Amino acid sequence: MIRVAILTVSDRSFHGQREDLAGPALAHAVAQQGWQVLATDVVPDEAPAIRAALLAWCARPDIDLILTTGGTGFAPRDVTPEATRAVIEREAPGLAEAMRAASLQITPHAMLSRAVAGIRGHTLIVNLPGSPKAAVENFAVIAPVLPHAVQLLRQDPRAEQGHHAPA
Ligand code: MTE
Repeated sequence: MIRVAILTVSDRSFHGQREDLAGPALAHAVAQQGWQVLATDVVPDEAPAIRAALLAWCARPDIDLILTTGGTGFAPRDVTPEATRAVIEREAPGLAEAMRAASLQITPHAMLSRAVAGIRGHTLIVNLPGSPKAAVENFAVIAPVLPHAVQLLRQDPRAEQGHHAPA
């Protein structure tokens, strides 16, 4: 059971100009894995707001994984990767590399993702794109390895048995 928080980063959703569809789509995908969504929030494309949300959730002992959606492209206000980098203590580049590699099979626009993944304390943070379809596609790429990732972060003794690849 992985305990997840989902942060939607979008000026328009924050200001009520566009319904947040990506957050709920991710929550559905998380629930389908049998994992628990403990918190959700919507913040504007502002680094201080993103950092504050990430730091508050990382300080909670019950949150294993934070998924962000949005703000990873090339638009001037796309600052989610920079805000994430300011919060993480250790990068986990393999997750972002795998998402980009798999997404390239779907669209060349995957090259435009600047998504970052990394660890603060016991919490893993993963940036996902902003569209519901893209967010869920990218989540599906990393979902199979997340149980082992969280076991390692929790220093769960069962992590030793999890070193084989997921089916
Ligand atoms: N990855 C997948 N699997 N499917 C997609 O449609 N869209 C891309 C990319 N990754 C996409 C994807 C696009 S168009 C962009 S601009 C980047 O993610 C960043 O998205 P964001 O700016 O919404 O965060």
